[in-house]
Amino acid sequence: PIILSQTHFTQQEDLTYPFEERGLQFGDGVYEVIRIYDGTYYLLAEHVDRLFRSAEAIKIVLPFSKKEITDLLLNLLDKNGMDSDGIVYMQATRGSAPRTHAFPSETEANVYAYIRDMPCKTDDLSKGVSTITERDTRWENCYIKSLNLLPNVLAKQAAQESNSYEAIFHRDGIVTECSSSNIFLIKNGNIYTHPATKRILHGCVRMRIEQFAANLQIPFIEEAFSTADMAMADELFLSSTTSEVMPIIEVDNKTIANGKPGSITRKIQKAYVQDAA
Ligand code: PDD
Repeated sequence: PIILSQTHFTQQEDLTYPFEERGLQFGDGVYEVIRIYDGTYYLLAEHVDRLFRSAEAIKIVLPFSKKEITDLLLNLLDKNGMDSDGIVYMQATRGSAPRTHAFPSETEANVYAYIRDMPCKTDDLSKGVSTITERDTRWENCYIKSLNLLPNVLAKQAAQESNSYEAIFHRDGIVTECSSSNIFLIKNGNIYTHPATKRILHGCVRMRIEQFAANLQIPFIEEAFSTADMAMADELFLSSTTSEVMPIIEVDNKTIANGKPGSITRKIQKAYVQDAA
């Protein structure tokens, strides 16, 4: 495979990273995961915008403009002859320098991006998935797509150990998002989701769902709900680049509604498939 390293292309095997690298030693960097359908990016501009927002928030200067990185990412698909479903993973760290916490004075961001095949999770998307709840012990700036993912990793591992697909984060009972996705509750025909504050990642799919809801004339209410509200929900679903629009049919071993994906979830899924086509 051919990968992007800084602003040029190289064979994956040829990429080496110094051991004093701030992404490795401090998690001092940001990342993006972008969907590829049939060899075409989905929501590319939205992801590029967010990469710049994240980098700016932690004062990393990226070695390219939005236009330049967009062209490089498009080129990456061409160079790999990518024509199926997959993702691109891209990260930018503060760079390499002798280890010291404060920013090194003379260092340049390290960037790489590579693509990977990833088929749709057809079975889960049709049947829905189980989840667990976990305390959201993350910091206050979850809108930054930071490489520091330890709480997310631990929560996802806990979910996996309970044979669940995802962990739903809550702060004192208020649901924020999931370990690697956003979450939505449907009650009496309305879609509720945590407002796009610093407490959640502003998902690119979440942003599109707001549009789908508007087109379908389903009220989209940015109001947080509680773990207790979930037990009474008509429907629940989560969203992300890799999970798309995923129905949730169980939370902490309790069945949601009748245990089947609901009709509004199905409408949003349908809108997503049409949009991504
Ligand atoms: N995660 N919230 C968190 C904490 C996430 O990590 C993600 C995405 C999302 C959804 O964002 P988007 O719709 O832009 O994918 C919400 C990616 C897929 C990951 O870490 O692999």
